[in-house]
Amino acid sequence: IPVPVFDYVVFGGTGDLARRKLLPALYFRLKDGQILEGSRIIGASRREMTDDEYRTMTSEALKEFLAPVDFDEAVVSRFLQMVSYVPVDAASEGGWDELRERLELEPDRIRAFYLAVGPDIFDPICENIGKHGLVTPQTRVVIEKPLGKDLDSARRVNESVGRVFSEDQIFRIDHYLGKETVQNLMALRFANVLYGPVWNSAMIDHVQITAAETVGVGSRGDYYDHSGALRDMVQNHLLQLLCLVAMEPPDTLDANSVRDEKLKVLKALRPINDENSSIITVRGQYRAGIIDGKSVPGYLDEVTDHASETETFVAIKAEVANWRWAGVPFYLRTGKRLPSRMSEIVIFFKQVPHSIFPKGSGNIQANRLVLRLQPDEGMKQWIMIKDPGPGGMRLRHVPLDMTFAEAFQVRNPDAYERLLLDVIRGNQTLFMRRDEVEAAWKWIDPIKECWERSSTAPKPYTAGTWGPSSAVAMIERDGRNWHEDIS
Ligand code: BG6
Repeated sequence: IPVPVFDYVVFGGTGDLARRKLLPALYFRLKDGQILEGSRIIGASRREMTDDEYRTMTSEALKEFLAPVDFDEAVVSRFLQMVSYVPVDAASEGGWDELRERLELEPDRIRAFYLAVGPDIFDPICENIGKHGLVTPQTRVVIEKPLGKDLDSARRVNESVGRVFSEDQIFRIDHYLGKETVQNLMALRFANVLYGPVWNSAMIDHVQITAAETVGVGSRGDYYDHSGALRDMVQNHLLQLLCLVAMEPPDTLDANSVRDEKLKVLKALRPINDENSSIITVRGQYRAGIIDGKSVPGYLDEVTDHASETETFVAIKAEVANWRWAGVPFYLRTGKRLPSRMSEIVIFFKQVPHSIFPKGSGNIQANRLVLRLQPDEGMKQWIMIKDPGPGGMRLRHVPLDMTFAEAFQVRNPDAYERLLLDVIRGNQTLFMRRDEVEAAWKWIDPIKECWERSSTAPKPYTAGTWGPSSAVAMIERDGRNWHEDIS
């Protein structure tokens, strides 16, 4: 179903996020018939550029970031007709009147401002949007992390955006929430009767959430060195995944019902302090190594501060201290320059209480549900069966395998495709509310502070390995292991 006709104004319209993600995502939605003719995508940034030059840049971005089979000349030319450009200087008067004139041609339609810029200029942009009378009842604003670097700065970001937009107009993107498997987690939990009764500490032994990347910091060193894996990945993506696993069933899929439940989980996270931080958190930093057969440099050679203590790997044993989850560890792990790009949530169920099978039947392994975010999105429910054939009772651990690409033969849409149109639909379910972001920082800040006080540096690990050995030791102390794909 197409969304209503809209105007999308992309600040930072010539930047990396716009070229790599936003323009291709809107292109695909047009291709699939979800965007109606007449909608406008207006790039805005400080750079002087004409509409035609911006169209050329857009077409080059599509060539660069779409697979050749997806690049359809006819759709591209329709897409380019929607695209235009206004040079606007966030911090001065330059260009704002021109932008207003362009928007006032269609004063009643849905209008979205996407701030694909650094958070330091959220404030002047919002102020100018307000001052130039660009906020109509049908207007929304989209912002993306980093939403602050700690609780105080996050509050400042929220306050400056909140001075101009009301909470129901603010869409805080966490692109992990737009990933297919993540949405499927809600379908799995709440559209099946099977999982509800076993989704608790009586039946679940522990949960692992991993987001592993092979890339290093590359050209993002300036940003990353002030952020680190805890702020870059755990505060947002990993905690959001944890919330969706751990939350109580919301009454409806309505945005506030879901976000109320996620907030309760964040508030129930057991605080990490000086006493437990060295036992239940591990931070690492990669050294030179080999990934996919290629030598890659160490972190300290990639950033300006060659003595940096920024972590590129984190493992945390988190606990949701509430009735449903008490005693069930949630092991979180993320890092750069790990052996493979792989994100997944794994639910480890408990062992059966007693085996009726004779010795020699094989070990009964605990059931395990693997939700794979990337690559090869899908789910595997591991169960025990009898090995086929007349050889007697031999038990075997096998997956019920639902790899989406195989099962549905469709292109897996990028997270932004869903999220950009949810903004137009006015659906905030997959976006973070202000109090959620702040609650996440409240849990994260003390971890960072403990690390700073501990005066130990992150543990080195060789690029192409699964992080420092202490991350393995952390989980092995509990008699458990990190999940390896055994399919
Ligand atoms: C971003 C982080 O939010 O997520 C990056 O800033 C990280 O450092 C990226 O690489 C990972 O996203 P994805 O979708 O590739 O898993």
